[in-house]
Amino acid sequence: MSSLNQKNVLLGVTGGIAAYKSPDVVRRLRDAGAAVRVAMTANAGHFITALTLQAVSDQAVYRKLLDADSESTMGHIELARWADVVLVAPATADFLARLAHGLADDILTTLCLATEAPVAVAPAMNQQMWQHPASQENLATLRARGVSVFGPAEGSQACGEVGPGRMLEAADLAERLSALFESGALDKVKVVITAGPTHEAIDPVRNITNRSSGKMGYAVARAAAESGAEVVLVSGPTYLSCPRGVRRIAVTSAAEMHAAVLREIADADVFVGVAAVADYRPEKFHPQKIKKHSDRLTLELVRNPDILAAVAALDNPPYTVGFAAETHNVEKLAREKLLKKGVDMIAANQVGDIDIGLESDENALTLIDRGDAVSLPRMNKDKLARALVAEIANRYCAKSRSKNPRRARR
Ligand SMILES: Cc1cc2nc3c(=O)[nH]c(=O)nc-3n(C[C@H](O)[C@H](O)[C@H](O)COP(=O)(O)O)c2cc1C
Repeated sequence: MSSLNQKNVLLGVTGGIAAYKSPDVVRRLRDAGAAVRVAMTANAGHFITALTLQAVSDQAVYRKLLDADSESTMGHIELARWADVVLVAPATADFLARLAHGLADDILTTLCLATEAPVAVAPAMNQQMWQHPASQENLATLRARGVSVFGPAEGSQACGEVGPGRMLEAADLAERLSALFESGALDKVKVVITAGPTHEAIDPVRNITNRSSGKMGYAVARAAAESGAEVVLVSGPTYLSCPRGVRRIAVTSAAEMHAAVLREIADADVFVGVAAVADYRPEKFHPQKIKKHSDRLTLELVRNPDILAAVAALDNPPYTVGFAAETHNVEKLAREKLLKKGVDMIAANQVGDIDIGLESDENALTLIDRGDAVSLPRMNKDKLARALVAEIANRYCAKSRSKNPRRARR
């Protein structure tokens, strides 16, 4: 049963193109068992009619703040108290700015200020509007106040541009809203996660690296934090922002990542090594930029520490999960890695000539432990990370219950 069952959801609709998806959001929320009431801005009325939203929610729609009729039925303060959660989908740049600055100049902003319920927003706008520093600062303000931000997704937009700013799909929004009510499967569990590539310096301006974007590791960190875990994210260089509720330690090289992980791991319960750690580094760092004097240049490389194996070999290791990116024989090689490194689980994915994995927003995983393999089919990395974290939580809990008195105490 969905955790939205019997919850009161106040859906805010603002004046963006994606308002055409709002009736579907209402439908999904009601399918999950929620009672839904809709409040819309005046501009939302240019994109979707109140009549449609009234028909799908089976309730009168709130459109005006200073409206004697609405106030006489369920007044705005009563409505703010009625809500167990507020979801604004779509949330325009304009609405986010007004909310960030505490304006209460229409029914929706007033409700958001007047409610004690958690507020979630699903931004939807042109990608330039989304990337504008003003929008990003407003979002940061809202996040810091505890507002949940769902999305946006990347892709082609109504305006013909491509980039971040598309509203998440209705089913996704219902799922995320539901997750706000789930008690954390990893409550009080410390999870250390590595993410991103490492940079192995050759000289002051050059390094050896790989194509990892860090997206998968950051998605796992976000999902673990959503599940209630205390999350430490040891991250190689990426352009991603730190997920809410996650403590990030920024590192550059494999050696720094190794040291940071060993500092954090003693009291950790779960370790997930998602980073694409360089296996080798240049033996010698040239303190000055190497000049192109000769036709050939040979770099001697030496092995980097194996972080995953080092964690698994600890006296009292955490539940340890490694990632394996392989171009062929994925399951066979992953099973070999599982045994060789002595880890609890390998999350294996195929990389190479298929368009998922390393830099993409989508991925698929095969989870391999001592039992049967479990396939998590192709989906976006956030969704996949939530599925992976749920699998890890199940297995970690089962293992700590059966084996480890230290963890069973928790
Ligand atoms: C055709 C059209 C589409 C628009 N789509 C969006 C949008 O997707 N996201 C957005 O932030 N603003 C969009 N706008 C601008 C908003 O409608 C405008 O900022 C308005 O003030 C929002 O009002 P509200 O936030 O009170 O609903 C659009 C404007 C037009 C004319």
